[in-house]
Amino acid sequence: MMKKSIFTAYLTIAVTLGGGLFLTAAQTSFAMDPDGCLTCHQYPGMVTSENTRDIKILHIDEARYLSSAHGRLACTQCHAAVQKVPHTGETSVACTTQCHQSDAEQRKVRNTPLRHFHRKEQSAIARLDDASSCRVCHPLYPHSRNNMVRALLNLHTGFLVCSVCHLKKENFPNCYYDWNASENAEYIGEPFGTFYNPKLKRAHKSKHFLSRIAVFTDAQGKKRSLINTWDTAEAAAFSLNQKNLSDGAQKNRLAFFHRDINRKEISVACNECHSEKSILDFKKLGFDEITHNNLVNLNIKGLVTHYKTFYFPKLFE
Ligand code: HEC
Ligand code: HEC
Ligand code: HEC
Ligand code: HEC
Ligand code: HEC
Repeated sequence: MMKKSIFTAYLTIAVTLGGGLFLTAAQTSFAMDPDGCLTCHQYPGMVTSENTRDIKILHIDEARYLSSAHGRLACTQCHAAVQKVPHTGETSVACTTQCHQSDAEQRKVRNTPLRHFHRKEQSAIARLDDASSCRVCHPLYPHSRNNMVRALLNLHTGFLVCSVCHLKKENFPNCYYDWNASENAEYIGEPFGTFYNPKLKRAHKSKHFLSRIAVFTDAQGKKRSLINTWDTAEAAAFSLNQKNLSDGAQKNRLAFFHRDINRKEISVACNECHSEKSILDFKKLGFDEITHNNLVNLNIKGLVTHYKTFYFPKLFE
């Protein structure tokens, strides 16, 4: 109860100020979004997955939404069942409660496939070649376990390589963060991500390239990438041969492949980067002042780390 009322107060303030409180300096207006759905759903690459094979894109681009046939409706006019977060499985839509009421229209709605309803408003990465050992076994959008954060973690695929979050740093005390060389990428919808390295002067937006932040160390005075490519061949061989190994042997091999890898607590993870004490020096990496402030003050992390469930307030009752 306590938690709910704090959140309610918070959201009410946010809406009074025009939605700007959640994401300081975000230029979005959310005029058609009284429930703040786009606070979370505005991000390209927001992709969820129950099993890491079938992905579902959850991004909704505000401008494209507003210019769509239904852009004048509040999200909850159709998504009436979405009243709290998380809302996994809330796929019902009320197309015929207030609109499309005639028999003919109801029939038409029943016969319309709805699965790709928002497709023109959505972006994600379709393919990203990555030579790391990680990607031999893990998919592009690897997070599926925790429905509160998996989609938010997955959106980082366009910004960071796995080891930026997962490297066991005690094994590499002098490691630091910098841009990786550009990688080949293919997109669904509009390209996005740190698809150009702001430090490179001649860099430009591209439909086919992406550059991401990675971890490096200095070895004998030379900059060395800590993206694990040295296990890639062995990982591929293991994947082919896995079935022939005993459970114990498989476990040992997996422990070997993960010898430099940590799983992180979400509560620690978000603040590691989205706070004044960020391990990433956003300015040094070439991000402009506005983006820097945005990323440091990203309030969405509070929603994710402080609440197991929170409820949308009934603002206009
Ligand atoms: C005119 C009705 C309508 C409105 C308004 C609407 N949606 Fe949807 N939405 C749908 C339909 C239909 C689906 C597909 C449901 C299904 O898969 O069966 C959907 C699916 C989704 C999904 C799941 C991802 C997907 O592509 O299947 C998300 C996330 C979503 N909507 C968010 C929003 C947000 C945020 C807004 C407001 C900015 C919004 N919707 C406004 C009808 C609507
Ligand atoms: C605090 C962040 C947040 C807010 C605010 C939010 N969502 Fe979501 N939404 C999510 C996340 C995270 C998921 C994916 C959950 C998962 O991975 O199963 C999601 C999933 C969905 C889905 C797909 C459900 C499914 O299982 O297919 C729909 C539809 C949706 N949201 C609509 C909305 C609407 C409408 C609103 C506003 C009333 C809204 N969301 C507000 C975070 C949010
Ligand atoms: C040979 C295949 C393979 C390789 C290579 C591999 N993984 Fe994994 N990884 C797995 C399997 C299998 C699991 C266990 C899945 C589970 O328990 O859900 C796992 C689990 C994980 C976990 C979760 C650990 C936990 O405590 O729950 C993380 C994080 C992870 N891998 C990251 C990585 C990263 C980063 C790399 C690259 C350095 C990598 N993995 C390389 C197969 C692999
Ligand atoms: C933005 C930081 C971040 C990045 C980038 C990231 N992860 Fe994670 N990952 C996390 C956090 C935090 C958790 C713990 C989630 C939890 O406990 O609910 C996690 C959990 C996992 C798990 C456990 C299973 C699951 O579904 O949660 C696996 C496997 C994993 N990550 C693999 C990867 C791989 C492979 C990559 C690169 C393709 C990657 N991660 C990139 C932060 C990240
Ligand atoms: C290792 C650093 C790191 C960690 C850990 C991390 N993030 Fe991020 N996050 C980033 C970077 C870098 C960007 C993208 C910068 C850009 O806009 O290009 C980003 C972008 C985002 C965005 C999109 C913001 C925008 O304006 O583009 C959201 C939302 C977000 N992170 C939420 C989270 C949440 C929630 C967690 C914890 C579950 C988390 N992040 C953990 C580094 C991190």
